[in-house]
Amino acid sequence: MIATDPAAAVLGRPVSELVTPCLTLDLDVFERNARTISGYLRDHGVAWRPHAKGHKSPILARRQMELGAIGLTVAKVGEAEVMVEGGIPSLLLVTEQATRERLDRVARLNRTAEVIVPVDNALQVQLAGEAAREADATIPVVIEVDIGMGRAGVLPDAALGLAMQIANTRGLRFAGVFGYEGHLLRAWPEDEKIRQIEDALGRLTGSAETIRRAGIEVPIVTAGGTGSYRYSAKVPGITELEAGGGCLMDLMYRDDCHVGPETGLEFALTVRAMIVSRPTPDRAITDAGWKTFSSHHHMPQVKNLPGVTLRVLSAEHGTLDVAADADQPRIGDIVEFIPGYHDSTVFLHDRLFGVRGGVVTEIIPVAARGRLS
Ligand SMILES: Cc1ncc(COP(=O)(O)O)c(C=O)c1O
Repeated sequence: MIATDPAAAVLGRPVSELVTPCLTLDLDVFERNARTISGYLRDHGVAWRPHAKGHKSPILARRQMELGAIGLTVAKVGEAEVMVEGGIPSLLLVTEQATRERLDRVARLNRTAEVIVPVDNALQVQLAGEAAREADATIPVVIEVDIGMGRAGVLPDAALGLAMQIANTRGLRFAGVFGYEGHLLRAWPEDEKIRQIEDALGRLTGSAETIRRAGIEVPIVTAGGTGSYRYSAKVPGITELEAGGGCLMDLMYRDDCHVGPETGLEFALTVRAMIVSRPTPDRAITDAGWKTFSSHHHMPQVKNLPGVTLRVLSAEHGTLDVAADADQPRIGDIVEFIPGYHDSTVFLHDRLFGVRGGVVTEIIPVAARGRLS
């Protein structure tokens, strides 16, 4: 994507030489996190299909496949196109497609890769069938079931009718059912989280059973997510899970979803900024505001300057509170932040700088950035 990236000059150089603001990804930590998630799922007999919405990078997707993923999950057809072009052989799309144009693109992708599309309505099934037949392709289809989140998805009782329509539509292959327990990621205490996840995913596995009893095979029963995978993996009948962002990690997962170092996941992503102004003894200003990172879902945290906290992000400035008697930080000092939410941070950037042992080793384009349709 960035053919002659001027940033490539930093390859092999210490991370301290990076121009700010920028995002670094500790690749050793990313890979350890990927092994933690994939190993946990393997131990529970569940396949791993990480959501790529956070990193949007075929390079990192391929790394996840080397570390045990069976394929990736994406939100948009444009993201699927970037991933297929980047060599990912199997993808699950998790947003419904409402036009022939989108489904024609899905059909074309299915000539060279597997791109599974979700439906929750007879019209989407009809459009997908037409697109598949015209492209002389087969589109694998999953039914999205609303398991309590109240977003897209049929109610569990309606899944069988739609499954029969898919099974009877030439050009389509019924691939299974999908639900997302996104409304339960922050549930706590733990026993309550377990109970609610079992209840929600029970609606999904129940739909799968009803469809099987009607004589239709249901190979895939898939759900989320980093905030729930440790519990969802234990629900009988789940075949694969989409936990992806945990490879990068952020404060929302740790503090709100209770997925932190105690579960083996560490912070891999860092926002690097520079102090550009010290207008008062108790205030420092950085060159990184909300066009660099985000406070959506959770405020970022300063990680390398004790006693310094982020008060607010404006577009191109971060305002830090400093203990009034501190002569640190000084203009030109580097501030490192742990992102509050990786997903609302990475998509602001053209690239991540992959780092090992404090040295920049890779430039990782955020290649599917902006592929919103
Ligand atoms: C359908 C779906 N699956 C899974 C996830 C979880 O992804 P992650 O593990 O990156 O938080 C999400 C998050 O938005 C989602 O929308």
